[in-house]
Formats: sequence, C-alpha cells, structure tokens
Amino acid sequence: MNAEKTDSGNNHDVPVIAIDGPSGSGKGAITERLAGMTGFHILDSGALYRLVGYAARLDSVALDAETSLARLARDLDVAFLPNSEAGQPLSICLRGEDVTWAIRTDQAGVDASKVARLEAVRQALGELQVRFRKPPGLIADGRDMGTVVFPSANLKIFLTASVEARAERRYKQLKDKDIDVSLPALLESIQERDARDTERAVAPLKPAADAIVIDSTSLSIEEVVTQIVTRLKKEIDTGVFQQN
Ligand code: C5P
Repeated sequence: MNAEKTDSGNNHDVPVIAIDGPSGSGKGAITERLAGMTGFHILDSGALYRLVGYAARLDSVALDAETSLARLARDLDVAFLPNSEAGQPLSICLRGEDVTWAIRTDQAGVDASKVARLEAVRQALGELQVRFRKPPGLIADGRDMGTVVFPSANLKIFLTASVEARAERRYKQLKDKDIDVSLPALLESIQERDARDTERAVAPLKPAADAIVIDSTSLSIEEVVTQIVTRLKKEIDTGVFQQN
C-alpha cells in the first residue's frame, strides 16, 4: 500500500493518535479510555478486517480469493451505531444486521488475519480507514496505523505484552461475553495469528520507527493510560498537535 497516498489529503490537519500492537495487548480498552478523555473519534481497524472475513463466509467466498475479497471490502455495507447501553462500544451492523459480537469470536479473528494478508484488501480498507479522520481528532487502533495508514500521526504508541498475558486477557474478555473458548486453544491461536501478522509481506505488524513502545505485561490499563496521557501532554506542550 502506498503510505503517502493513504495518509495525505484527508483532513490532514486533524490530529491522530495511532495505537498499534498484537492481539490482546489492550489496544481496544486503552483506545476507548483515551477517546473518553479527548472526545476524539475511534477507528477500530481490526473490526473492518473481521467484517470482510465475516462477509466472505456469508457469501461463501474463499479467504484467499483476493479480487472477490477486495470487492467485498470496497462495498462493505457497514454502520457503526451508538450502543443503547451507555459506556459500551459502538454497535456494528453489516448489511443491516447487528454483528457486534458475531465478529468477536476467535474464528472471526483468524479469518480476519487471513484476509488481512492480501494487498488488494488492505488497499480497499486503507481507503475506508483514512475517511475516519475527522475533527476533533482520531484514535486509530490496529496493526499498521502508525506505519502505513497514518504515517503522519501525531502520537504513535506500540503496545506489547507476553503472549501468555495476552491469551489470559482475551480468554477473560470472551468468557465475559459468554463466548465459549479454551485457554490452551486460544494461546495457540494467538501465536499463529501473531506469526501471520508479523510475517506477512504487506504492512506487517511492527512498531513505527517513531513509535513509543509500551510493554503492558505487568501493567494495568490505568497504568498504560497514565503513561500515554503523560506523553500526550508533553506533545501538546511542545506544539506537535498544532503543527500538522
Ligand atoms: O485487532 P483485531 O484482533 O480485531 O484484528 C483482527 C485481525 O485483523 C488481526 O489479527 C490482523 O490480522 C488484522 N488487522 C490488520 N491490520 C489492522 C487491524 C487488524 O491486519 N490495522
């Protein structure tokens, strides 16, 4: 994907905070806290890859059929709607059907990481993602937000944690949502997904050269948010948010 092409032109002066990292590193929870504090919009880019995988299953499209999958990605009939329960993430509707939880299963994550290897799919979703950059600002959560989609992001955070800690967290999240899963199976699936995400040829998972790397293995969400907010205040003091 051409980074310059995806990042330029679309509300380029609107601030972006990129939060990248592997599955279970805490990006989603941290993104929501930061959005609550700043009033910025949220881009959950992983949800878009999950939606493409989910739509592919609905339409019986193979998960390596690049041209058909790219068409699905381009024509994604998706709506992000405010949740009726206060404090809950946005509801996600695909073709008018609420798929908020259906796309959160481990299988949907595995399917997402398969379609995410394909350049034409990434290109189509990249074009969709830059349109989320709207005033007053955007918190973009994903794998390539700081490296490819928003290379001019004002603040880039790369969150990591040990694979065991990430599997435990994901296990608790899925159990809380009554999604049936076993911890050893989840650990194996996360390891496989990590390998697919970091070893793929297009937009592999890696920190941007100018990203701040935070290892959250033994940190609470609050502690990570505090570190990010401290950094954010510093960037605001030095005027970074006014320059772009
Ligand atoms: O973040 P989440 O677990 O929902 O992402 C699902 C999958 O989508 C990831 O494992 C990854 O393969 C893919 N993805 C990606 N680029 C992004 C976001 C997600 O390749 N920016």
